[in-house]
Amino acid sequence: MNKYTQYKAEVAGTGMHVPKKVLTNFDLEKTLDTSDEWIRTRTGIRERRIAGEGESSSTLAAQAGNQALNSAGVAPEEVDLIIVCTSTPDILFPSTACFVQKEIGAVNAAAYDISAVCSGFVFGLSIAEQYLKSGRYRYVLVIGSETNSRIVDWTDRSTCILFGDGAGAALLKRTESAGSGGLLSSHIYSDGGKSDLIIVPGGIGKTGVSCKSVEAGDYFIKMLGNATFKVAVKRMVEVSQEALEFNGFTHKDVDLVVPHQANRRIMDVVTEKLGIPADRIFINIDKYGNTSAASIPIALHEAWGEGRIAPGNLVLLPVIGAGLTWGAALIRW
Ligand code: UT7
Repeated sequence: MNKYTQYKAEVAGTGMHVPKKVLTNFDLEKTLDTSDEWIRTRTGIRERRIAGEGESSSTLAAQAGNQALNSAGVAPEEVDLIIVCTSTPDILFPSTACFVQKEIGAVNAAAYDISAVCSGFVFGLSIAEQYLKSGRYRYVLVIGSETNSRIVDWTDRSTCILFGDGAGAALLKRTESAGSGGLLSSHIYSDGGKSDLIIVPGGIGKTGVSCKSVEAGDYFIKMLGNATFKVAVKRMVEVSQEALEFNGFTHKDVDLVVPHQANRRIMDVVTEKLGIPADRIFINIDKYGNTSAASIPIALHEAWGEGRIAPGNLVLLPVIGAGLTWGAALIRW
């Protein structure tokens, strides 16, 4: 616990929801000049989930959020704040979080979205941390939810093979109890100078929506994959080391790394550089691909459900995303 604050923030429950529809690498082979072998060896992905009719970031988020509340045994009316981390909001406004609030019946909660792309969940945790540690709120629901399939260019093999849809949630609780558990710290950074590495260039406020930009494919994800790969490794290692040092730990103290699932090779290199053995990384990119802001909370939920996280474990969550944005959170479970 930070010695300057009276309260701490703990994870009280987690949840996830993914669409039923599975799109395998073999399915992609039928429409793209790619192969299961290339995708698996370069990314670690075997399949991803795709939102169907009637599914959107808010519907996925509401299901994940409900599950987090149920697992914590907390009623929706008790939630003070809902933060939805998404770069694929249902519509421009109102926020996706407002739709989630309505759907789950969190009638007493304020609700808003944040946009930090793949880093969204760790950025969301850092916001929740401030509200809870200051004593302002008791329960904050942080949800990462994405329908990336709606903004990928299905003819661009360098991006469309990577992304998937889904939602993950964590209910954060303020606690006054003594002890060393909870969200120990979060560390977040941005570098707008590298905004061209991953971008959806289509304008809203800048140019207005135009047929010209739709036809030009400006509302699809564009990514300089190789350059992003290099900076992702550097920043995730740096910020992980910062989080550990800030709390007086070393890599040897980490029980499990639950990284952003961007690419299996990135996760392997980051943990290798940190000196953390491969059996202490949680990986589920094979099943879901890169679900952007949803990837860490989905992985956290599965890691806990599979017994990979036990009470007292030290869990490190490193992330990188468009912006560029990056960060890490450290949790004593
Ligand atoms: O979540 C936010 C952060 N995002 C990331 O961190 C993504 C980071 N980047 C990556 O994960 C990787 O850079 C990719 C998976 C996107 C690409 O892997 P790479 O090893 O960096 O490949 P590359 O871009 O250097 O391309 C190597 C070759 C190229 O062919 P040539 O020019 O060598 O003939 C590509 O055209 O692989 C080709 N290629 C493909 N081949 C088969 C690119 N995509 C595919 C594909 N199937 N899907």
